Amino acid sequence: MRISVIGDGNVGSALARGFEKAGHTVSTVGNDQARIKELAASGEVIVLAVPFGALEQVAATIGNAADGKVVVDVTNALTPDFKLALGHTTSGAEELQKKLPNAKVVKGFNTVFSSAMETGQNTGTQLTAFIAGDDTEAKNTVIELAKGNGLDAVDAGPLANARLLEPMAFLQIQLGFMFGHGPNIGFKLVR
Ligand SMILES: NC(=O)c1ccc[n+]([C@@H]2O[C@H](COP(=O)([O-])OP(=O)(O)OC[C@H]3O[C@@H](n4cnc5c(N)ncnc54)[C@H](OP(=O)(O)O)[C@@H]3O)[C@@H](O)[C@H]2O)c1
Repeated sequence: MRISVIGDGNVGSALARGFEKAGHTVSTVGNDQARIKELAASGEVIVLAVPFGALEQVAATIGNAADGKVVVDVTNALTPDFKLALGHTTSGAEELQKKLPNAKVVKGFNTVFSSAMETGQNTGTQLTAFIAGDDTEAKNTVIELAKGNGLDAVDAGPLANARLLEPMAFLQIQLGFMFGHGPNIGFKLVR
């Protein structure tokens, strides 16, 4: 697939390496609004790997170029001082869907630390990627992308379940960086 990764930091670059290894054609861009517009137009799948606070600007830049396309929201809805930005009645992904009403927004990869995004593993263990979205075909596309990057991809229900996945990622951040477990940790669904 032609995948446009918006954001070329820890997450964007790791995902891009994994996608490329899986055989996809990948283009990445950092904070360059003109190039973001171009890549949104050319990509079949658009991955948003920017800070939560940048989503408003990036969504405005992308605009109609996302219509009908799969938009993967990897962001975690955190404030700059690391608090949950949204509560129980909405999520970053649902708010993004409102900004891009004709796109097929899928929440994915946000519960995986960037250290595992390329290979799907941390400390030799395959991790789980929880994928949530309302459009089944779009969600299946992202599930296949996650599998291609070595992750155990699990259908986590409708986009509204991003309300669960975003705090889950915040828990992982706390475990990693406040409670001493470091960045090489991750969630695995055992079944
Ligand atoms: N790090 C993780 O392990 C992890 C795991 C899961 C989810 N996430 C989420 O993934 C997102 C990215 O995290 P990260 O660690 O990759 O951050 P990062 O390393 O700081 O990279 C952020 C990227 O976003 C770009 N950017 C910043 N402001 C922008 C704007 N207004 N318009 C367009 N692009 C902009 C930056 O471009 P410039 O460098 O050019 O400024 C950079 O390429 C965050 O929402 C984070 O919560 C992170």
